[in-house]
Amino acid sequence: MKKIAILTSGGDSPGMNPVIRAVVRTCIYHNIRIYGVKFGYDGLIKGDIFEMNVSSVADIIQKGGTILGSARSKEFMTKDGQEKAVQSLKDNGIEGLVVLGGDGTFRGANVLSKYGIKTIAIPCTIDNDMGYTDYTIGFFTSVNTVIDAISKLRDTSSSHGRANILEVMGRKCGDIALNSGLAGGAESIIVPEVDFDIDKVCNKIVSGRKRGKLHHIIVLTEGILSPYELKRQIQEKTKIDTRVTVLGHIQRGGTPSSFDRIIASQMGSMSVKLLLKEQTNLALAFKNNNIEYITIEDAVSSKKIFNKDLYDIVDELSI
Ligand code: F6P
Repeated sequence: MKKIAILTSGGDSPGMNPVIRAVVRTCIYHNIRIYGVKFGYDGLIKGDIFEMNVSSVADIIQKGGTILGSARSKEFMTKDGQEKAVQSLKDNGIEGLVVLGGDGTFRGANVLSKYGIKTIAIPCTIDNDMGYTDYTIGFFTSVNTVIDAISKLRDTSSSHGRANILEVMGRKCGDIALNSGLAGGAESIIVPEVDFDIDKVCNKIVSGRKRGKLHHIIVLTEGILSPYELKRQIQEKTKIDTRVTVLGHIQRGGTPSSFDRIIASQMGSMSVKLLLKEQTNLALAFKNNNIEYITIEDAVSSKKIFNKDLYDIVDELSI
């Protein structure tokens, strides 16, 4: 294999840049020509492909986002778009492809594999919603951002004796709320995997007040109910002044954590080495403290299991 390309797709995540750096440098170390594709599958369709060198990835290991740009491509969902993407790889003589992203990106990688493109997929999403890997790159950086927000909210929550709702991302997965709620010491977490119970939330606020607790932080996963509706229900039932913060895309940025940089570098390096051995159509995973892999096909069909034990611990510690 003489030419490999890399692209980033879907919602960006902190850690994509360290993966790009590792892929580019590993290729150059092994005398492989490496090409960057701009803005994900859209760039592949348009042939927006350029050759990279050692300096292309200088000074990016500490940067959030992706220097290649990312997109959620509608055109790539069509057969016509997929054929154009495959053709532009062929036109550039590219034999191997490394794709970085989440679920949707992996489904795209699976399609390319079926067209005969030798593909490796690396899990990069803040949501940690991919069942085949313990962690996705970007997740812990995002959790750190949420923990920081919880700490700051707690200061003002105590000063005013309020309840504060913090809406976090996660799409259909409660892992950001679960892990940041545990590590940040939130009083309540609301996740899609557990039925929402307004009385449970309110009873906790009321019993906290009775013990003289002045703050109450509720971490709410997006998409379950509007944080403003939650605020209305809490105020109606408890008469406690409540405020809403929607953290939004702040969770997607920032310098990648040490853990994210380390697994990013390991996976980036491994992706190239697998392609060189002609081991392809694989999705890399962080499992049992190791970088492992399964087929992309199996990765996209694996089901995410919610960590109920962790949820119960949050419940026990936030009495
Ligand atoms: O999948 C990552 C994610 O950040 C989700 O948590 C969130 O629901 C979504 O992307 C937001 O997407 P967009 O960047 O299109 O607003």
